[in-house]
Amino acid sequence: MFLNVKLLLCALQNCYLNSIAKKVASLTAQKRSSASMANGFSFKDSVVTGNGTGLVYLGRAWADYSRVVFSYTFMDKVVRPQGWSDWGNPKRDARVYYGEYKCSGPGANLTGRVPWARILTDEEAEPFLGTYYVEGDTWLINP
Ligand SMILES: *[C@@H]1O[C@H](CO)[C@@H](O)[C@H](O)[C@H]1NC(C)=O
Ligand SMILES: *[C@@H]1O[C@H](CO)[C@@H](O)[C@H](O)[C@H]1NC(C)=O
Repeated sequence: MFLNVKLLLCALQNCYLNSIAKKVASLTAQKRSSASMANGFSFKDSVVTGNGTGLVYLGRAWADYSRVVFSYTFMDKVVRPQGWSDWGNPKRDARVYYGEYKCSGPGANLTGRVPWARILTDEEAEPFLGTYYVEGDTWLINP
């Protein structure tokens, strides 16, 4: 296992995520395994860049109810147009919670996004914008 993403500085707010992946990789693999679990990742005011040759997913479903939200984040073209991966488990499409809110940059272009990515409304985004929402298990994973 090796890290394909360099976490340069982060408190899940003002994060700078730089992917050095050479192959398909994922920035996060959040493992929320039931709908009642409160955990998830929320990245706010962050930057996603890459200098590797591989494009990255914003998240890959490590468990059925994986939950990740990116808000106010600049995404460079290193982000795959699809944005998110169910990791080969289509039943997860309806269960995961992968949200984007007011992101910018070429990687935030929603044209190619998987249909189950959520473009959050102000109301939906609100719970993820507070600094209290920083619980998580682990992130940064092997490809
Ligand atoms: C990408 O950046 C990392 C970290 O700065 C560096 O170690 C690596 O050599 C760079 N890769 C390329 C292809 O420039
Ligand atoms: C988003 O991507 C599509 C398809 O590649 C492209 O046609 C469109 O111009 C892009 N939109 C922006 C705002 O860059």
